[in-house]
Amino acid sequence: MDYVDSKRKSNICGKILFAAGITTLCIIFLKQSPDFSTPSQFSRQQAGVTHVLVTGGAGYIGSHAALRLLKDSYRVTIVDNLSRGNLGAVKVLQELFPEPGRLQFIHADLGDAKAVNKIFAENAFDAVMHFAAVAYVGESTLDPLRYYHNITSNTLVVIKAMASHGVKTLIYSSTCATYGEPEKMPITEGTPQAPINPYGKAKKMSEDIILDFSKTSEMAVMILRYFNVIGSDPEGRLGEAPRPELREQGRISGACFDAALGVIPGLKIRGTDYNTADGTCVRDYIDVTDLVDAHVKALAHAKPSKVGIYNVGTGKGRSVKEFVEACKKATGVEIKVEYLSRRPGDYAEVYSDPSKIKLELNWTARYTDIQESLQIAWRWQKSHRNGYGSP
Ligand SMILES: NC(=O)c1ccc[n+]([C@@H]2O[C@H](COP(=O)([O-])OP(=O)(O)OC[C@H]3O[C@@H](n4cnc5c(N)ncnc54)[C@H](O)[C@@H]3O)[C@@H](O)[C@H]2O)c1
Ligand SMILES: *[C@@H]1O[C@H](CO)[C@@H](O)[C@H](O)[C@H]1NC(C)=O
Ligand SMILES: *[C@@H]1O[C@H](CO)[C@@H](O)[C@H](O)[C@H]1NC(C)=O
Ligand SMILES: *[C@@H]1O[C@H](CO)[C@@H](O)[C@H](O)[C@H]1NC(C)=O
Repeated sequence: MDYVDSKRKSNICGKILFAAGITTLCIIFLKQSPDFSTPSQFSRQQAGVTHVLVTGGAGYIGSHAALRLLKDSYRVTIVDNLSRGNLGAVKVLQELFPEPGRLQFIHADLGDAKAVNKIFAENAFDAVMHFAAVAYVGESTLDPLRYYHNITSNTLVVIKAMASHGVKTLIYSSTCATYGEPEKMPITEGTPQAPINPYGKAKKMSEDIILDFSKTSEMAVMILRYFNVIGSDPEGRLGEAPRPELREQGRISGACFDAALGVIPGLKIRGTDYNTADGTCVRDYIDVTDLVDAHVKALAHAKPSKVGIYNVGTGKGRSVKEFVEACKKATGVEIKVEYLSRRPGDYAEVYSDPSKIKLELNWTARYTDIQESLQIAWRWQKSHRNGYGSP
């Protein structure tokens, strides 16, 4: 009897130990899988917390927007397929906001409707800021399908996912390129849209999809039409770091820094006989810090069943010559300048009338000194010669 009893006891002990062991293993296993430790907070609505999906958040403007949202206590999910953005920018944000439930990064392609739907099913978004796109006018004329796919078609995927998962607010990144070559300056939101390249057309088509859909839904929509974006985080945490192969396509500020760094021999000014004060083209340069401020204000003012369309610019045109002078002063480099004939497709003058956004969202550009904006961006460029790669 004694013998049997003790055998039984040890049997029970063994079973208990076995069960405890399995449970411990399960807990360890679950804790190590990322699906256990993070998504709970991202997948649940939480009172007082606004969860924003930032598409293209590894890119130049999207990363700056994510930083501002996180600073303002929003919960942020970045979706980006890193085709053009930088994982380094996401890492900077993760290091600044490591607390659970603040920031999550999901590597996915917005062209993949199934993947996008899964993301919307697993996360409780309150709003979407849709930045992800390809964004070079020159490239768009050479590879238009890439633009209609990654701008228009992907926007449709995002809106359909928002609709079927009840996400109620959209802030959309549009562009002054949707206006084409208006006859009258400054450009107001009422200026007719007649885009002249696939980039502008793809963005206009996205706007049209959004506008038509909004008539049949209660979605709150804000469409922001940016002018030329420059600058970077004044605290030097983020910068603009396009892929090296896109440098050729690049925008004027990138070219300015490349010239100052000696990556390219100098700057080429194309066209000195335009009908402007000094003969060079005139553009409206908006600092990225002001731009993301416009997004936060747009989000705060978004109303169900309403669409707000706003130009985001300074309202002041600067000539290319002025820009180059500011670039020389900001970098302290005597950049070589070459004067060439006009580039086809460039228009003389583009600048915004930003009075609507001031009146309705109480937003005004504050970083309006281009030399100062360039100086801030230059500091980051100088200390990140390989972008977000190894220094
Ligand atoms: N930079 C400007 O001067 C300017 C002016 C007007 C409008 N915009 C608009 O602002 C937005 C952001 O521009 P940016 O200058 O930050 O560009 P960017 O190239 O730095 O960022 C775009 C991001 O979107 C991501 N992306 C692209 N296709 C994707 C896809 N299929 N799936 C997932 N991610 C994808 C890229 O990886 C990249 O990180 C764009 O919509 C652009 O059209 C920019
Ligand atoms: C990003 O998405 C495009 C399709 O839009 C795809 O062709 C490309 O391979 C993707 N890149 C990465 C790194 O996932
Ligand atoms: C955009 O779309 C094309 C398909 O038209 C694809 O090949 C490409 O990889 C996509 N992504 C980018 C960033 O260009
Ligand atoms: C508008 O913005 C300014 C500057 O940020 C602020 O001082 C002012 O109180 C705002 N006005 C309203 C009506 O919100």
